[in-house]
Amino acid sequence: MKTMLVTGATNGTGYAIAARFARAGYGVVITSREGDRAAEAAARLAAETGAWTKGAALAPVDEAQIIALFDELRAEGRTVDTVVLNAANLGIGMDALTVDYRKFMEVFETNIGWNFLIARQGALQMKEKGGGAIVFINSNTAYRAIPDRCAYGSSKSGVLGLARALAVDWGKFNIRVNCVLPGMIKTVRWQTNYNDCRSAMSNFTPLGDIAEFEDIANAAYYLGSDESRNTTGAELTVDGGNMIQLYPVNIPEGRG
Ligand SMILES: NC(=O)c1ccc[n+]([C@@H]2O[C@H](COP(=O)([O-])OP(=O)(O)OC[C@H]3O[C@@H](n4cnc5c(N)ncnc54)[C@H](OP(=O)(O)O)[C@@H]3O)[C@@H](O)[C@H]2O)c1
Repeated sequence: MKTMLVTGATNGTGYAIAARFARAGYGVVITSREGDRAAEAAARLAAETGAWTKGAALAPVDEAQIIALFDELRAEGRTVDTVVLNAANLGIGMDALTVDYRKFMEVFETNIGWNFLIARQGALQMKEKGGGAIVFINSNTAYRAIPDRCAYGSSKSGVLGLARALAVDWGKFNIRVNCVLPGMIKTVRWQTNYNDCRSAMSNFTPLGDIAEFEDIANAAYYLGSDESRNTTGAELTVDGGNMIQLYPVNIPEGRG
C-alpha cells in the first residue's frame, strides 16, 4: 500500500488533501505543529475512510524532528511515496516599510527552508523505492502581488524556483516535483470576511467561483499520484481563471 504525508492537515485544505489520498487507498500521515491535533485528525480520517492513518507533530524549523518522523515511518514499514507540503506561514499584514526583519525571514524559513527539509527526507525514502512525488501547495500570489504580503508572495515565488530545482536534481530518481497554485480558497478566513476576503477582487473570476477545498485536493492528488507520471516541474493553477484576466469579471450584484 502506498503512503503519503501532508503537512498542516488537521482541517481545511490539508485535511481535504489527506481525505482525497485516503479514499484512493493511500495510507496517510497528517502533520500539525501540535501532535494532539494531528492524532485527533488522523483518527477522524481513519474512521471516515477506513484508511491507515497516523498523526505526527512537525513544527518549523526543526530538522531533527523531521528526520525522527521519517525514521519512525521507516521502522513501521511505511516509507513515503508522496509528500504534499500544504502548511504555510501566511505572513498576513506585513507593512514592507516597518516589518521586523526576523518576522519577514520566518516566512521564508517556513515556506522555503522547512518545506525543503521535509521534501528532502521524503525524497531519500522515495529514492530507495524507485520514485515518488512531491507537491508544493503554492499560490497564484507567486506571480501576482497582493497588499501587505511582501514576505508571503516572494516566498511563494521562491518555492516555484525550488520546485524546479528539485525536479531537475531528483528526476533521475524518478521523483517528480510539482506545484499547485490556488487562488482564493473558501477557508474560514474567507467565510468570516477576514481581510475583506469576500469582497476581494480575486473572488471575481471568469468561472464566477473560487476554490473549494476539494478542488485543491483533486489537483494535489493528480500531481501526487501516478496519474501524472510524466509530469515534473509543472504548475497547476486552480483559481477559477483569476490570473488570466486583464480585469475582474463576473462581479456579483452589490459587490465590487
Ligand atoms: N486560503 C487561500 O485562499 C489560499 C490561496 C492561495 C494559496 N493558499 C495556500 O494553500 C495552502 C493551505 O492554505 P489554507 O488557507 O488552507 O491554510 P491554513 O488553514 O491557514 O494553514 C494550513 C495549516 O498550516 C499550518 N500553519 C499555519 N500557520 C503556520 C506557520 N506559521 N508555520 C507552520 N505551519 C503553519 C496550520 O496547521 P497546524 O496549526 O495544525 O500546524 C494550518 O492548519 C497554503 O500553502 C497556502 O499558502 C491558500
